[in-house]
Amino acid sequence: MSDLSSRILKLVDSNNGVIQNTLKSPELSGIDSNTLHSALSSLWSKQMVNFSKLEQDHWVLTKEAEQYIESGASPEVQVVDQVLKALEGLTISQLKEKLGPAGIVGQGKAFKNKWLSKDGDKLIAQVKELPTDTVLEELKTIKEKGTLDDAKELTELKKRKLISLVKVIGYKIEKGPKFALEIINLETDITSDMILNQSWKTAQFKPYNFNSEGVFPQSGALHPLNKVKEEFRQIFFSMGFTEMPSNQYVESGFWNFDTLFVPQQHPARDLQDTFYLKDPARAKEPEDKEYWKNVKQVHQEGKYGSIGYRYPWSADESLRMVLRTHTTAISSSMLHKLAENPRPTRLFSIDRVFRNEAVDATHLAEFHQVEGVIAGYDITLGDLIGFMDDFFGKMGVDQLRFKAAYNPYTEPSLEIFAYHQGLKKWVEIGNSGMFRPEMLETMGLPPNLRVLGWGLSLERPTMIKYGVSNIRELLGHKVSLDFIESNPAARLDELL
Ligand code: PHE
Repeated sequence: MSDLSSRILKLVDSNNGVIQNTLKSPELSGIDSNTLHSALSSLWSKQMVNFSKLEQDHWVLTKEAEQYIESGASPEVQVVDQVLKALEGLTISQLKEKLGPAGIVGQGKAFKNKWLSKDGDKLIAQVKELPTDTVLEELKTIKEKGTLDDAKELTELKKRKLISLVKVIGYKIEKGPKFALEIINLETDITSDMILNQSWKTAQFKPYNFNSEGVFPQSGALHPLNKVKEEFRQIFFSMGFTEMPSNQYVESGFWNFDTLFVPQQHPARDLQDTFYLKDPARAKEPEDKEYWKNVKQVHQEGKYGSIGYRYPWSADESLRMVLRTHTTAISSSMLHKLAENPRPTRLFSIDRVFRNEAVDATHLAEFHQVEGVIAGYDITLGDLIGFMDDFFGKMGVDQLRFKAAYNPYTEPSLEIFAYHQGLKKWVEIGNSGMFRPEMLETMGLPPNLRVLGWGLSLERPTMIKYGVSNIRELLGHKVSLDFIESNPAARLDELL
C-alpha cells in the first residue's frame, strides 16, 4: 500500500478524525489532486475513510506580475523611482527607454495616484520619497496564499491582467467505519487455495463498488453509409426488385460507355474525368460478337431507327479498362442478359463508382450510386414519374419536381428535385430517364419492352441524415472511428 495512503491515515488520526480541507493542510496541499483522489478512492473502497470534493478559487500571477516581483517594485513605483533619481527631470520617452513597457503602464498609474505631475514634457515627482508599494505586497500575498482578503483589490489586479483565476480541487477527509492506521489488504476473489487452507473464513473481502463506472463495452459499428444503404435495399426489396451483382469496380469502355451510346469523343470519357487502368489496359472482346458489331454500327452509321453519331468508332477505345463511372454499366450488361429471356423485370444496385474529380467538401473521386431499372411492356414517362413518387415517398420525401435533362442513353431524361424541409429549398437528388430504343434493341430486347432507370448518390441522403457537412468526414482516410462508433444504431426518422 502506498506511502501516501498511510500518511493520509496518520494525518486524519492526528487531526481528531477529520481534515477539513486538504488545500489548507501543509502536508497535503502540495500533492496533485489526481494522485490524492486515487489514494482516497482506494482508502474509501476499504471503508477506511470518507471524503468529499471541495472546489476553491485560486489566483495565480501572470508573467507580467512575476516580472514585477523579480524587479522588486510595481511599475508605478519603478517610475517614481526613476523620476526621483533623475536630477534634470525625465520625459516619457526617456522613461520608456529606461523601463520599457513597464514605464508606460507605470506612469499612468503614478499619475492616477498623484505621485507625478507634468511640467511641459518633463515628469515631476509629487512625493519626496518612494511610496509604499502596496501592489507589490498584494502580489506577494497572492503568490503565497492564492488569494487576498480585499475582493476589490483582486478585481483591480485582475483588470490589470496581473492575476488570473484557476480552480483548485481539495478534499475533506473523515474517518470511515473501518478506519485503522494499518492498511489491510482486502481480498477481491475466493481462490481454490483459500478454500483448501480455510483462510476464506477469516479473510476480509473488498465490498462491491457500485459507484464506479463500468468499462464501455467494445463493439463493432456499422458505417452510416452501410446503414442508409441497408434502408434503400429494404425499400427496393419491398417493391419487388432484385439486386444486381455489382461487385466489380473495373469495366471495359464498352460496357461503361459504348453500350450506353456515350460517343467515344464524349467529355465523360476524358482522362480528366475518368480513371483508366494501366495494367491490364485492355479488356477481352465481348463474347456476343453480333452485339459488339451492332453497337459499333449504331455509333458509326446508325441502326434501329437511329441515324447514329457518324464518326469512325474505335474498337481499341471500347476495350480500354476503366474504373466504372456509374453503376449503369452493370445495368446495361444485365439488360443485355435480359434479352435472352425478355420479360418485365425490376433490378437495383447500390455500389461504388469513380470519377476523376477535384476533391472538396462535397466531392470525392469516388462515391456510391443507388440505381434502379424497371423493364415493362409499354411503360412510359408517366410510369417513371409515378414510380419516383412511390419510391421517394417510401423514404419520406413527398414533394418532387422534375426537370428535363440530357443523358446519352436515355430519352427523355429527367433530373429529380426534392423539397428539403431543413434547408427550405429544392435540392437535386437524382437523375433518370427512359433508355433509348436503339440501346435496347441492339441488345435484342423487343421494341415494346421499355426500360426506365434512375440513379442517385448514397452519400447525399446519408450526409443529410447524419448531419455531416464535409464528405471527407464520411468516406476516406480522414473519417474518425469515434464518429462511426458513436452513431445511433437505429434512427426513427425519415430519410430526407
Ligand atoms: N447513370 C446516371 C448517373 O450517373 C444515373 C441514371 C441511371 C440515369 C439510369 C438514367 C438511367 O447519374
